[in-house]
Amino acid sequence: MDSHRQFFWKRLHSLSGVVPVGLFLILHFYSASFSVKGPEAFNHRLETVKAMPWMLPIEIFLIYLPILFHGILGVILSIKAKYNLLTCRYFNNLRFVLQRVSGVGLFLFVGAHVYKTRIDPWMHGIPLNFYHMAEGLREPLTFTVYMFGILGAAFHLANGLATFCITWGLTISPRAQARMTSVALVLFLVITLVGINSVFGFLGMGVNI
Ligand code: HEM
Repeated sequence: MDSHRQFFWKRLHSLSGVVPVGLFLILHFYSASFSVKGPEAFNHRLETVKAMPWMLPIEIFLIYLPILFHGILGVILSIKAKYNLLTCRYFNNLRFVLQRVSGVGLFLFVGAHVYKTRIDPWMHGIPLNFYHMAEGLREPLTFTVYMFGILGAAFHLANGLATFCITWGLTISPRAQARMTSVALVLFLVITLVGINSVFGFLGMGVNI
């Protein structure tokens, strides 16, 4: 592929990580956090989202296709990347590796999550609701996979926002990049806490403030 085309696809990959995929991830974590308010509130939230107009095209064109595009190109870029963490032990080099490792992990997790919340209920003719999630999360394996999934998603999005700002020339000076790293760290902690709290919400142990 010529370098102009490569540039175009890499920029589209970068943009898709923030809009729409990153934006969706934030909204998705917010929806999941209704679990801390109990079964009724969570199920009501699900019904409200499902009843919104244009849901099918929104799901296909703003959620599934962009995640597939970002994920498949991401796996290709992760495989092709040159790794030298063992010889160059810098913090930013570790972030480079973790961005790709978390991406590949997320690819597998998103597949498992879609299976658990969409395909499995559909195959067994049962509705997806609070109780289905709670039952799954009581299994130690599912609980552990979700914990790692949340950590990976939080790191990938927070660190990705910092690298996005470099990619698009929004943070040019070392000082601006250092400040963005601090913002990313806070974001990582907030997304992780909100996500883990939602999982505990399904187990009746979430903090509801
Ligand atoms: C929850 C879904 C995801 C979100 C919110 C997300 C978000 C992001 C963001 C914001 C960036 C930064 C773009 C930049 O540096 O300009 C990024 C980069 C990246 N993502 Fe994702 N991503 C997701 C899923 C995935 C998956 C499933 C993979 C599969 C491996 C992946 C692989 C990558 C790679 C390799 C990069 C670095 C691209 C580069 O710098 O060349 N991402 N992602």
